[in-house]
Amino acid sequence: MTIRYRFENSLYENVGDKGLKYDDILSYAKENLERHHKDLLEKRKNKTLGFFDLPYDKELVNKINELKKKYINIKNVVVIGIGGSSLGNITLNDAINGVYHNDRDTGLPKIYFADNVDPEKMAHLLEILDPKETVFNVITKSGSTAETMTNFMVLYDFLQENAPEKIKENLIITTDKENGNLVKIAAKLGLDTFVVPYNVGGRFSVLSSVGLVPAALTGVDIEKLLQGAADMDKICSVCDIEKNPAYMAALIHYLLYRDKDVNINVLMPYADNLASLSDWFRQLWAESLGKIDNKGKNVGITPAKSVGAIDQHSQVQLYIEGPFDKLITFIEVEKFRNTVKIPEVFTEIKGLNYLCGQTLDTLINNEKKATEIALTSANRPNTSIILPVIDEYHVGQLFYMLEVMTAFAGELFNIDAFDQPGVEAGKVATYALMGREGYESKRKEIEKELKNKKQREM
Ligand code: PA5
Repeated sequence: MTIRYRFENSLYENVGDKGLKYDDILSYAKENLERHHKDLLEKRKNKTLGFFDLPYDKELVNKINELKKKYINIKNVVVIGIGGSSLGNITLNDAINGVYHNDRDTGLPKIYFADNVDPEKMAHLLEILDPKETVFNVITKSGSTAETMTNFMVLYDFLQENAPEKIKENLIITTDKENGNLVKIAAKLGLDTFVVPYNVGGRFSVLSSVGLVPAALTGVDIEKLLQGAADMDKICSVCDIEKNPAYMAALIHYLLYRDKDVNINVLMPYADNLASLSDWFRQLWAESLGKIDNKGKNVGITPAKSVGAIDQHSQVQLYIEGPFDKLITFIEVEKFRNTVKIPEVFTEIKGLNYLCGQTLDTLINNEKKATEIALTSANRPNTSIILPVIDEYHVGQLFYMLEVMTAFAGELFNIDAFDQPGVEAGKVATYALMGREGYESKRKEIEKELKNKKQREM
């Protein structure tokens, strides 16, 4: 089974002037699709873009399977990374193992994420962990991100204090082959090391060693995940707008932005275990597409996170009566892995008994349908991604489709979807403020700027 993309509610026929005419989509595609498709294909062929080929790295899968044998009895996995070096991992864990994974008795290792440099969260993590029973996977492509390196230093020191004999055994490094500080540390300590391919950006790296190592250690079937992605690759390689859901979705977003001022992209899964997918997607979409285009224009569609049915009681009022600036994309799960029956209790109460005997799965899917109907009646463009079931195979498909959609949107916007100068600027300012060697003049520049600024504080 394959995930599907439904888009009729983004069209004129269902939402009037706020939507797109199907013929306009087709005629844009007729004129431009081949050119953009060729550009992407060329970047894939000449290895500028490595994410396309991640599903086929058998050697990596074998290496991870070997590593897994070493950690059969391990109790915890800690991922030390941030942004593209952690959001995909959180998504994978939540989607496949579920948001309550750490509290369930599954026999699988628990997983923790040291992403932010929040002192309270880190103090609590140190309280929870038994260093002798914990594997630490430090993930940073650049090998120098301040947050990741700081968290690594704290946890390394914790290991040194409490279980120095485990340092070599329980530390895994995932980083660039040769650049950055981490690869040097790994070599010096003789640690197990995985490579982040040079041509795969952080936010496109979930199907590389970045996402696969922690996932495999916590029971996720990475072969099925990659198989899903590979099968989606076949679908998303077709240069036909009516057969390629990634291209169609990107084009709908682009044309709604260009012609209808739709500049907010809401991803709204109706499943708690997919809530963090929206966080992963926010980074993918925002960092890839929030750019200055080839004519010097600032472009981008702001991604927003929403979770159904929770946000029906929080955001949907705005979606229905607020500005016409959003395209809502629902994710619907066709068949949940669990079903919970609504019990036959309070049957005498009229306003409640309609629920008796039904299931939570029917309710949540009807809530999605109801929101879709309400939005469409209010002429609010919306689309749906339909996931047959939340499992490795379909989550692999979903990751891959959303990545191709983002890459293709980059072509439509005429921008480089694969750099992140804005993020780098923030990293440099942090280095300067924290006194890193080589950043002295940047620090002076910042200090001068701050001094000249009139403070307004209340
Ligand atoms: O997508 C990106 O490249 C970034 O957002 C990175 O994932 C993030 O900044 C972390 O970088 P690194 O993996 O180098 O620590």
